[in-house]
Amino acid sequence: MDQPWWKRSVFYQIYPRSFADSTGSGTGDLRGIAAHLDHLAWLGVDAVWISPFYPSPMRDFGYDVADYCDVDPIFGSLDDFDALIEAAHTRDLRVIVDWVPAHTSSDHPWFVDARSSRDSRHRGWYVWRDPAPGGGPPNNWTATFTQGAPAWTFDETTGQYWLHSFLPEQPDLDWNEPEVVEAMHRILDFWLARGVDGFRADVVHNIGKHPDLADVAPNLAPIPHSALNDDPRTHAHLREIRRRLDAWNGDRMMVGEVFLLSTERVAEYYGDGDELHLCFNFPPLFAPWDAEAWKKCLEETLAAMEPRGAWPSWALSNHDFPRHRTRYGGSEAVARAAAVLLLTLKGTPFLYMGEELGLEDATVPEAARVDPGNRDGCRAPFPWTADPRADWGATPWLPHPPDAAEQNVARLREDPGSILHLYRRLLQRRRDSPALRAGAIEVLATAAPLLAYRRFASGDERRILINFGETPVACADLPRWIVELSSDGGGEGTTFTGVVDNRQALVLRPPEDRANEERNA
Ligand code: NOJ
Repeated sequence: MDQPWWKRSVFYQIYPRSFADSTGSGTGDLRGIAAHLDHLAWLGVDAVWISPFYPSPMRDFGYDVADYCDVDPIFGSLDDFDALIEAAHTRDLRVIVDWVPAHTSSDHPWFVDARSSRDSRHRGWYVWRDPAPGGGPPNNWTATFTQGAPAWTFDETTGQYWLHSFLPEQPDLDWNEPEVVEAMHRILDFWLARGVDGFRADVVHNIGKHPDLADVAPNLAPIPHSALNDDPRTHAHLREIRRRLDAWNGDRMMVGEVFLLSTERVAEYYGDGDELHLCFNFPPLFAPWDAEAWKKCLEETLAAMEPRGAWPSWALSNHDFPRHRTRYGGSEAVARAAAVLLLTLKGTPFLYMGEELGLEDATVPEAARVDPGNRDGCRAPFPWTADPRADWGATPWLPHPPDAAEQNVARLREDPGSILHLYRRLLQRRRDSPALRAGAIEVLATAAPLLAYRRFASGDERRILINFGETPVACADLPRWIVELSSDGGGEGTTFTGVVDNRQALVLRPPEDRANEERNA
């Protein structure tokens, strides 16, 4: 089964401010990442996605880029980046970086120039419009992070509004302007030439826009426009980007953040295998920990993706939402069962740094909050040891996660029963089983609170049983199957008892005699 690397891989997202700090400044940096790659190699992930580390005024902590082809001094230098790529590749870890194509920082020289006069060289690189006929913003779109405020800000100097789907300091680029397209392509080339294996494209469904910029229906207007923007022009841009990526060596990839709240619409962004390699799909990330809800997510994802040969991706957490352990109520047993779910589905899983430690969101007091989108809790500094000062100095940029004295890499590595070791075992099992890594999936007919599915590839099969409920569930039809892995570590290597404990997830392999028969067939 010769699948491209990004289908076989498990990715690990690094939020660079919060992963590892090489200087004791309280903010993470690129050297810190390079110095901790052994953790990732030990864990067994295949690739990392590093959130933005480019020069930025940090209004949106790097998603407001002021220079796409450099490193912000707080994170290090381009030399540090080159060293990081080399250190990762030496360990067989691939690296993808964030590419933020839909908007720049208002400090970017392009926007500074665009704003200086209506005749400036870069005016047309952004979206400017006259006020509406009666005054006020040109349409009824609303921005993200600003509590229903318009997605437009008036520029006194030039007498027009600029469009910003996010903060006013994140002006939207106008991809209808060919020079913008060209400039953004050159940025991809810059990082490809430095050896990156691909990109995570930020809100990439937001790049194409109809030049009329018409109002949305009044009932939709309160929804931030970035969750609605789904213009066909984006697909043409993505096809061009795919051609350029493929031209490198056929081995570079792009995963797009397609923040549209319908899986069917997200699936369109794979095109006919000629647009994005992978799309992030948000309905599962918003699903509660509930068997019915997850069965629906699985069925919808497969129905939308399989007919077009699209390869799903799965994530339970990232830097934009409360961590899933926190969302699911805080139980470690549930976090463990969720790890089994995430790492046994068909598709490419993305782990968010710290979920392997079972981290919960930090409690961030009002006075310590820094993010305009109120996302500080999931961005707390990563606990390497029980002594946060040793890892982060005296002034971490955000408070540490709860229970860091217990839930840290050093301590959990010593405990073979820990959630960290569960993630490591899961990654190992996934690597070793063609069925789990790249096989087909069939969702089985079970009643909630049990969710069951089979993964299969020629000569290899696994059954996954997840009990979302609070009492044990009987499952009588798998006599003599072997427990290959259990979320609580119990019974591994023994015959399945026919019962899935409350909040437990199991990976079963067929009885030895059947597995032998299939191998010999
Ligand atoms: C999505 C990113 O994940 C988020 O952190 C950021 O604030 C917005 N895009 C705007 O770039």
